[in-house]
Amino acid sequence: MKRASILLGLTISVILILSITMLSCQSSTAAKTGSANSSAAKTGSANFVTAKANNSCINCHDSRGLIVSRNVQRSTSLHGSGFTFEGSAAECAICHTSEGFTERIASDTFEISEDIKNASPINCRTCHQIHKTYTSSDWALTIDTPVVLKLTGDIFDWGKGNLCANCHQARPSDVPQAGGGNYEITSTSFGPHHGPQAEMTAGVGGYGSKYTGSNVHYQAIADGCVTCHMTDDTYGKQAGGHTMSMSFKNNERPVNYVAGCIECHKDIDTFDRNGLQTEVKSLLEELRILLVAQGLIDESGSGIVGTFSSEHAGALWNYKTVMEDKSFGVHNPGFARFLLQTSIDALK
Ligand code: HEC
Ligand code: HEC
Ligand code: HEC
Ligand code: HEC
Ligand code: HEC
Ligand code: HEC
Repeated sequence: MKRASILLGLTISVILILSITMLSCQSSTAAKTGSANSSAAKTGSANFVTAKANNSCINCHDSRGLIVSRNVQRSTSLHGSGFTFEGSAAECAICHTSEGFTERIASDTFEISEDIKNASPINCRTCHQIHKTYTSSDWALTIDTPVVLKLTGDIFDWGKGNLCANCHQARPSDVPQAGGGNYEITSTSFGPHHGPQAEMTAGVGGYGSKYTGSNVHYQAIADGCVTCHMTDDTYGKQAGGHTMSMSFKNNERPVNYVAGCIECHKDIDTFDRNGLQTEVKSLLEELRILLVAQGLIDESGSGIVGTFSSEHAGALWNYKTVMEDKSFGVHNPGFARFLLQTSIDALK
């Protein structure tokens, strides 16, 4: 048994090394010849011919529904159906379109030069290296290296979750400085846009003193986002896998999808473990009331432009960070409590 699995391990490593070598050869020839496109196309078509000869297309295109299942899941998620076609202006397309994201990671910058025409939503090619070698190794992720967060410069490193953090991070923005005097809020949508899940999970990017508490999940879970959001034990097209969704409806009743939690929390049946979400929601409400009283937001939660102390503007920043994170503490229980509690103290 042991020997068989060592052999299998060796074979897999050899295949991996081979495919990595193939890939890096491909990109270095592409870089050398200035005419990157035509040489990449040549390597691509050589791979295509080899794959066809070896019949390796059927590793993916066969009757198992490997692609169909994931495609249905993805289509129901906001990756497939959200603000992805419309978000094709260069500034937005780096996260909202497949083409913009692909161009951005290829150039290793956070920018692309032009708006995307005929944009595609986030799809298989955005996250997997589809049709590079035309073999099963094309399921490899397009990028999973650590991410330098744009907002803070911190390095985010969370296994396969690194893929997600390229997009699920706050856009660069002018955050109030702790003790920085007056701060001018110039937009009603002041705050981190739109998915600061990377900052939240890693415990960075808030206003105020540096958070030194624990980031339990960031420390305990190897593949981060992927472990909780993409469990293979899917609930149809509603939760898990490529839906990325954490809840589903059973007879109209919303159910928390805890399949990704069970390996560590054996008897869990709700995200509100130890009442964490109830606590975070009540802290949010306490802070909201204070922010309205201080004239930072209106009753609808919309920001109010004006000049505020950096402490007050920072309290609003922290409030928006927890709201926009959308997990009500689950991503990082300690940090969510810290951001809300320090902001409540500052406004009282
Ligand atoms: C790693 C798995 C994988 C391998 C190997 C693979 N494909 Fe695909 N192929 C895909 C995926 C994923 C899609 C996109 C499906 C979608 O978007 O619905 C796709 C799409 C296609 C399409 C539809 C047109 C398009 O480009 O979207 C064709 C045709 C196709 N593949 C042919 C082939 C041929 C021929 C081979 C072998 C030479 C091959 N594929 C090998 C995964 C693979
Ligand atoms: C190319 C950028 C990009 C990548 C990579 C990415 N996302 Fe997203 N994700 C988005 C955008 C953009 C939206 C929201 C679209 C909208 O609201 O219109 C989104 C939405 C979501 C949602 C909300 C889904 C829903 O239906 O409510 C979840 C959860 C999510 N992503 C998780 C992940 C996870 C987990 C990963 C990594 C495996 C990931 N995302 C990778 C850009 C990305
Ligand atoms: C750094 C990546 C990134 C950039 C750049 C970006 N977005 Fe997003 N955007 C996201 C992610 C991730 C989400 C989903 C967040 C979530 O569901 O928590 C999102 C969500 C949205 C939503 C849905 C908001 C909601 O709460 O339902 C809108 C609208 C949106 N973005 C507009 C834009 C526009 C307009 C631009 C360009 C000016 C832009 N985004 C640039 C990553 C980005
Ligand atoms: C937002 C990013 C994202 C998108 C879009 C996406 N995937 Fe994935 N996919 C992942 C991640 C992350 C994994 C988990 C990788 C792992 O565990 O090695 C994965 C795993 C898979 C696997 C299992 C691969 C293996 O080696 O076991 C298949 C098959 C797959 N995806 C197919 C697809 C298909 C088909 C599409 C398009 C319909 C698609 N994916 C779109 C991120 C994505
Ligand atoms: C410990 C498990 C866990 C990890 C790790 C995790 N999430 Fe979540 N996430 C959740 C839960 C649980 C919720 C939903 C809370 C609820 O609905 O009450 C959620 C909510 C979200 C939402 C809002 C979805 C919606 O439908 O409103 C997005 C987007 C998201 N997570 C993205 C991410 C990203 C990106 C990462 C990695 C940086 C990540 N998550 C890591 C458990 C996790
Ligand atoms: C790889 C292990 C692992 C996974 C997976 C995991 N957790 Fe945790 N979680 C921990 C550890 C370790 C702690 C800290 C010790 C404790 O509270 O038991 C923790 C703490 C928590 C807390 C904090 C309670 C408090 O009072 O501070 C909540 C809530 C929680 N997890 C919810 C979840 C949910 C919901 C999921 C799935 C969506 C999940 N966890 C997945 C390891 C994990």
